[in-house]
Amino acid sequence: MSDDRRAIQKEFERVADLFAERTKGRFDDLDAVTFSRVRPGSLVAEVGAGTGNFLTLFSNVTGRLLAIDLTPAMLEVARRKHEGIEVLAADGAKLPIASRSIDLVATAQALHHIHEPVPVISEMGRVAKEDGNVLIVDQVCTESYENAAIMNELEVIRDPTHAATRPASAFRIMVQKAGLEIVDERLWEGRARFSEWMWRGEFPEERIVATLSFIEKFGDATGMNWEREGDDWTYTRRRLMILAARSRAPGKISV
Ligand SMILES: C[S@@+](CC[C@H](N)C(=O)[O-])C[C@H]1O[C@@H](n2cnc3c(N)ncnc32)[C@H](O)[C@@H]1O
Repeated sequence: MSDDRRAIQKEFERVADLFAERTKGRFDDLDAVTFSRVRPGSLVAEVGAGTGNFLTLFSNVTGRLLAIDLTPAMLEVARRKHEGIEVLAADGAKLPIASRSIDLVATAQALHHIHEPVPVISEMGRVAKEDGNVLIVDQVCTESYENAAIMNELEVIRDPTHAATRPASAFRIMVQKAGLEIVDERLWEGRARFSEWMWRGEFPEERIVATLSFIEKFGDATGMNWEREGDDWTYTRRRLMILAARSRAPGKISV
């Protein structure tokens, strides 16, 4: 296994127990289930499913839920919290799953941990049924290169396993490179709190101090609109949802 994957496992093993609690409800405003056009009884899988907070949004409409993740400790929490969820410890770039077998293949808040996302998106496309879809949800930065560079510096201080927060335009290119076509996309923006982004207890105190110090010095250059609020800070969080399907254009790679 590569060093970056081992580092991800170590980081998520450390946070597994608190992660589900801290991130509870963070997808509530996205309306991802309607956006995904998922049909009743479908098999839905998520790559980088972690503790299952996103995947279980689909529990009222679907037949089976399959949580796939690199970190067994995260899947263990998913299994404990969500009765009936199936789990599979695997790397998203090499899914031990038959081609064209899953109705909806999703990923949420995982691609920014992955240095090379195109092979993962290609695998998601490979395992999606002929009439199935791929759903990508991830945080995005602004389209300014300077904002992106400083925001990513900040994210690496917060979590050294962070790979890259990318602009929406990069996701469109990655989806196309993976041999898929965009069916629909939606950008969501909302305000969030620093204290919810970095829970005391989940993150080492020295990382919290270093992240706050960076925000004070360079927050204005991140494009995240940091604002002080008493002892806390608030910022703009942006998430992109892309629904994609196998490309039908001639000459495109068929997986
Ligand atoms: C921030 S968590 C998101 C969990 C869940 N999707 C959610 O939003 O609640 C990212 C997850 O991606 C997983 N991950 C990172 N790289 C991966 C890879 N190459 N293949 C599968 N899972 C991966 C991590 O182990 C972690 O559980």
